[in-house]
Amino acid sequence: MSESDIDEISGVETTGHEWDGIKELNNPLPRWWLWTFYTCIVWAFGYMIAMPAIPLFKGATPGLLGYSSRGDVANKIAEAKAGQAVFVEKIAAMDVVDIVADEELSRFARAGGNAAFKVNCVQCHGSGAQGSLGFPNLNDDEWLWGGTVDEIYATISHGIRYEADLDSRFSEMSAFGADELLSREEISLVARYATFLGGFEGGEETTEGHEIFLDNCSACHGETGEGDIYIGAPALNNAIFQFAGSLEAITNQVNSPQHGVMPAWGTKLGDATVKQLAVYVHSLGGGQ
Ligand code: HEC
Ligand code: HEC
Repeated sequence: MSESDIDEISGVETTGHEWDGIKELNNPLPRWWLWTFYTCIVWAFGYMIAMPAIPLFKGATPGLLGYSSRGDVANKIAEAKAGQAVFVEKIAAMDVVDIVADEELSRFARAGGNAAFKVNCVQCHGSGAQGSLGFPNLNDDEWLWGGTVDEIYATISHGIRYEADLDSRFSEMSAFGADELLSREEISLVARYATFLGGFEGGEETTEGHEIFLDNCSACHGETGEGDIYIGAPALNNAIFQFAGSLEAITNQVNSPQHGVMPAWGTKLGDATVKQLAVYVHSLGGGQ
């Protein structure tokens, strides 16, 4: 290391550092740089005093401004809730049909209904409302109890065959075998006829089967097996089924029928939530 001296070419003092004959000039730092540097230091001290900054054993110094990111989140949630409350109040006061007609409200209701569906309905109807054996698919336009938003609302509010709710939807298919309303022979014929209507394997269209159907089944399921939403009698003239999708299962259903039970949600979840659920289910694709 040589002693500091004056560089001949620039006339600037050197720091005395030299590498392979190249010397470092001792120019002062640029002013703008220095001022930025000092400002940053001052800012940092100010920040440490104003905001939570210095770690303690538990938490940190609170800072003079009292800011907390937790409090910030709590405020935002409170704001969002207040915003939602306005919608929920409107929904509670309105008819479901009018909610569907109002674009903004129905968008809100669909989102709320979707969330409530995930919590309360998926265990029976499936995560995509696709249903499974014994539990109807809610995406298709095949409805046991009707697919208008009003009808869906009534179904969800009061449930189906749910005895604790006096307004629950209720109907019962006769037990043709167990109660000996039809002979085994007749049951076999009509079951094969119904299997034919659904287009399942093993079906057979016979005059006798057709007649037994008209005499015993059509009052509920319709003359052509089109079903009846007023008593929740499913259509039998398509391949969509809840319990019985084969000759064997249809024979069992005629012998001693199975019935689906769905809880009533009106008092449990509250009217505004049930309305949102109705709007959501109605929007799934099968709404009428
Ligand atoms: C414990 C099981 C269960 C739960 C939970 C359940 N459901 Fe159901 N749901 C059923 C059954 C079973 C049926 C068919 C009843 C029948 O056979 O008539 C049904 C029928 C329906 C229907 C009528 C379908 C039609 O074709 O008319 C709608 C709408 C419906 N459920 C919506 C819901 C909603 C919304 C929820 C959540 C709030 C829900 N369900 C929760 C079992 C359930
Ligand atoms: C009193 C009305 C009534 C009569 C009469 C009746 N059913 Fe039903 N049937 C129903 C109802 C209601 C259901 C739906 C049960 C449920 O959803 O839980 C049903 C369900 C069925 C199912 C199951 C459909 C599916 O989607 O899984 C079949 C099959 C069926 N009926 C066939 C018949 C046949 C065949 C006859 C005549 C021998 C008959 N029913 C007579 C009311 C009736």
